[in-house]
Amino acid sequence: KIPIIIDCDPGHDDALMLMLAFGSGMFDVKAVTISAGNQTQEKTLANALKILTLIGANVPVYHGAEKPMFRDLEIADYVHGETGLDGPSLPAYTTKAEPITASEGIANILINATEKITIVPTGPLTNIAVFLLAYPHLKDKIERISLMGGGVFRGNMTPSAEFNIYADPEAAAIVFSCGLPITMCGLDVTHKALVFQKDIDLFRSLGNKSGNAAADLMDFFSIYYRKNRLELEGGAALHDPCAIAWLINPGIFKTKPCYVEVETKGELTRGKTVVDFYNVLHKEPNVLVALDIDREEYINMIYNAVKNLP
Ligand code: BDR
Ligand code: CA
Repeated sequence: KIPIIIDCDPGHDDALMLMLAFGSGMFDVKAVTISAGNQTQEKTLANALKILTLIGANVPVYHGAEKPMFRDLEIADYVHGETGLDGPSLPAYTTKAEPITASEGIANILINATEKITIVPTGPLTNIAVFLLAYPHLKDKIERISLMGGGVFRGNMTPSAEFNIYADPEAAAIVFSCGLPITMCGLDVTHKALVFQKDIDLFRSLGNKSGNAAADLMDFFSIYYRKNRLELEGGAALHDPCAIAWLINPGIFKTKPCYVEVETKGELTRGKTVVDFYNVLHKEPNVLVALDIDREEYINMIYNAVKNLP
């Protein structure tokens, strides 16, 4: 099993990412740490605890930063609703976050780890940047970072920037320049990682609690995409599970190693992942940029994972 720590801000697609991670049986999930992004820290934490309860996953959860490093928190309630996970009715939970922060939790896990651990962030990168600044000596215990964020050719928060990177560009700049191998599942690939109504119906036909919740989540999420992203032809972009899917089967992705930096100062380009696609700078690539995915295989992978859950 691949040892990982997940950092997320659930969020509909984050919730599906958790279902894929746990249902696939491929991972030893050491912890789930929580970022503020799609909603406030309080709400994304509650959502993570609800989903983990639903799918019967018993792992330590650590609360993270309440806001980006230097910016105000801008939530995405226009996509994810008032709770951050509007749509399904989710179980009550009795579990709690650990009494220490995400960065302290990550540090403890890495100190005690006997093998290198992969970090999978699917929200703004605040917690990971805080960790890297506070514990630089532990960086070598990280195998790689497989994240959802950014994009080569498009933005969704602004014309230049994707939400997770826009939300905390200084944190993203720290992570992208940290020297660890990074896989970036940005909008180029996630806008091809589409789920259609016929797929949602299939999840519902599974008949288990998780299948119903997955279908409800995708139904809610799809409404936004049908209204706002007409070029996706009625499909909804299932962003976050890509970061896990790449670890399960990189063979279903098309990728390209590129040198990438994050813009933190630009007036129109705050949070843009500036990708040297044609290597005009002749710098060593620091990021494996995902560009395309076999959509059918991807949905199948998530479907099979959800099938394994309660
Ligand atoms: C990203 O932003 C959030 O709304 C999603 O959960 C995903 O992580 C897509 O831009
Ligand atoms: Ca997310």
